Amino acid sequence: MRADLRIGFVGYGAYVPETTLTNEELTHLVDTSDEWIRRRTGIQSRRILNGTETILDMTVGAARKAMLDAGVEAHEIGDIRVGVNTWMRFPSLATQVQKALGATDAAACDVSAGCSGFIYAVEEAYNKIFVERVKYGRALTSLVVGVDALSHITDWSDRGTCVLLGDGAGAVVIREVDAGGILATHTHADGNFGHLLYSETVPVLQAASAAPGPVQQIEKGPPAFLRMEGRKVYAAAVDTMVGEVRRVIEKYNQTSGESIGIGDIDYVFPHQANLRIVEMVAKRLRIPLDKIYTDGIVKYGNTSTASIPLGYCDVRDRFPDRPPGRLEVDVAFGAGFASGAILRRVP
Ligand code: UT7
Repeated sequence: MRADLRIGFVGYGAYVPETTLTNEELTHLVDTSDEWIRRRTGIQSRRILNGTETILDMTVGAARKAMLDAGVEAHEIGDIRVGVNTWMRFPSLATQVQKALGATDAAACDVSAGCSGFIYAVEEAYNKIFVERVKYGRALTSLVVGVDALSHITDWSDRGTCVLLGDGAGAVVIREVDAGGILATHTHADGNFGHLLYSETVPVLQAASAAPGPVQQIEKGPPAFLRMEGRKVYAAAVDTMVGEVRRVIEKYNQTSGESIGIGDIDYVFPHQANLRIVEMVAKRLRIPLDKIYTDGIVKYGNTSTASIPLGYCDVRDRFPDRPPGRLEVDVAFGAGFASGAILRRVP
């Protein structure tokens, strides 16, 4: 790696829908209780799209805030990647964001990697910025958004999943920086476990693909509900996230000649799937809980690919004076057992 080439986050943005859905409100839909949800998941409330805002509004909202924060204009963006699982159509959400922003010089595509979509999208953006500089001598600015509207695929009669899920978006601007930046990334997947966490195939869509019918027929079809075997996913989430943190540090040490250890990490942003998962990951890695982000799960629930960048904004709003140079790790796990981690030094 070129030692003098540093690439990092230079702007952050978040967007959550206005409507809050509390645990108490969910007790009117399914047989559950505020006590059960808090004890088993840590969740107190979540935000959901209410029909006036859309997934595109969330994505563009978070993107605009990140660009403002970075002081970057639309014409400077050369690459847009959107980690998303719930857009469910084409052209990609990224192209619609490009259009809304007027980022006419950008390439744009979506990245589907379950709840790890943001990590995958950052890794791809980072690699592209690196190659463009080293191979073509060109400086590239990238916009990466993690967004999901899990409420669109929630079965509101399934108490095992509907209490967990929420909607939101978080974004970062990535470009060359003078200090710090991304030190290493690691990603992996195991599709053999796809049946443990998935969205159903829409029956009408299957029929339509065999013999194409009117679009209305598809739109009136039943939604593609999210299904999960919670306990098995829970166990895999803990093991995999612990492994990802260790692996990304090892990867950095092997290539840099440094010997960073878990004890050197200042802060961890884990995917916010369940407070108990995050606590177990912290315990296994022997990282004190005050060095791990947990507030997202409490107030937003599981927002899938948005949860990590939402966490960046939340922490920054609450602790604006945190010094630069901190060593941070992002780690995620989700559907397709796609997982990933990023080791960063804050510029
Ligand atoms: O985002 C990435 C992937 N997602 C995750 O990582 C989530 C992973 N899984 C989990 O977070 C947990 O497995 C859940 C929160 C989904 C479930 O917690 P659990 O402690 O694993 O509960 P369980 O599924 O084993 O169910 C225990 C009991 C069952 O009743 P019985 O059979 O013991 O009588 C469930 O029917 O709790 C019952 N239950 C509920 N009770 C009240 C399940 N959901 C609810 C509910 N309210 N909402």
